[in-house]
Amino acid sequence: MDNTQIKKDFPILQNRNITYLDSAATTQKPIQVINKIQEYYQNYNANPHRGAYSLSIEATEIYEQTRQKIAKFINARYPEEIIYSKNATESLNLLAYSYGMENLKQNDEIVLSIMEHHSNLVPWQKVAKATNSTLKYMYINDQYEIPDEEIETKITQNTKIVGITHISNVLGTINNIKKIIDYAHKKGAIVIVDASQSIPHMKIDVQELNADFLVFSGHKMLAPLGIGVLYGKRELLNKMTPFLMGGDMIEYVYEQETTYAPLPNKFEAGTQNVEGVIGLGAAIDYIQNLGYDNIQKAEKDLINYAKQELSKLDYLKLYLTPNTQNHSSVISFNIKDIHPHDIASILDTEGICVRSGNHCAQPLMRYLNIDSTCRASFYIYNTKQDVDKLIAGLNKAHDMFKKYMK
Ligand code: ALA
Repeated sequence: MDNTQIKKDFPILQNRNITYLDSAATTQKPIQVINKIQEYYQNYNANPHRGAYSLSIEATEIYEQTRQKIAKFINARYPEEIIYSKNATESLNLLAYSYGMENLKQNDEIVLSIMEHHSNLVPWQKVAKATNSTLKYMYINDQYEIPDEEIETKITQNTKIVGITHISNVLGTINNIKKIIDYAHKKGAIVIVDASQSIPHMKIDVQELNADFLVFSGHKMLAPLGIGVLYGKRELLNKMTPFLMGGDMIEYVYEQETTYAPLPNKFEAGTQNVEGVIGLGAAIDYIQNLGYDNIQKAEKDLINYAKQELSKLDYLKLYLTPNTQNHSSVISFNIKDIHPHDIASILDTEGICVRSGNHCAQPLMRYLNIDSTCRASFYIYNTKQDVDKLIAGLNKAHDMFKKYMK
């Protein structure tokens, strides 16, 4: 796979003179996805599930066919196990309200990892407070990994829900979610996997993982903003009451009572983001055409090169596990005595886009005893030249600030 060729599929990377290293925040979109969305508006736009006329039926068909495509993509047993949402955050809030609020009681435990994004943390604080349950954390070791002892001591007979990110959006650590899921199941807990940072890079098989719920956002995997997925085991989703109420999620509505539609409509109130669904379908086609094996091989070469070059900068502190096989495509770093926002601003003058800040992971930052980091995150359209530009930009920032360093 040739990343330079792939880059040509991404109009923004042709139109703007940038080195885009913020794919963990959102990926750029290939022309194939952009064209599909345009084609939809020019040919099929109508409200799905609402009309008896052919245009609406066509919109419904494409909307439902994409659900089947997603189910196949992550190896879900049934298409109705795929619920469309706005993003991973909305999927997680749905779970907090519809599963957490209804199933937890005093002295039950929710166990999260300290590396969770706020979206898989703040909703659980609310659930814990409302249900008098306890919120516990699995902490990381000095290799930025969750040790087995943490899993085995924090998850207990009282644990009802375990929430775990597959890959940290700050550290790039790939968590051993299979071990966590198996262990949690032994203790009778259900597991929610946040796959937002993993699904762009690796094959997800929900049956092999035996995940109870799994969430992700489309926009981090080449699809448009505003479309996300909640996967849930059918037997669990069937028992849950909806989080959002309104049109299309009902069966019968009386003046005082309502019965709900069967899955998946039960969880899809209101007019849906069909454009997003279609874009997500096109993004899946694009990823499948490349193939995850090829994606991984290309990314591995690139990340190894980035790590090798960044390690040569003795003024840089890198936050990443030394276990190469447990690390994805995110590299966080700091330069002593220089604020990450200043580094990001200098890099921006060179057209280099990196994220700086706490990355929606304040508890992790506090645990690491820092406020923020700079983060470079890579995807299939990045090349070794992008890494070289980052290195040159960092050297420039270091030279500019050297005199202020203690
Ligand atoms: N969750 C996204 C990130 O890590 C926005 O940047």
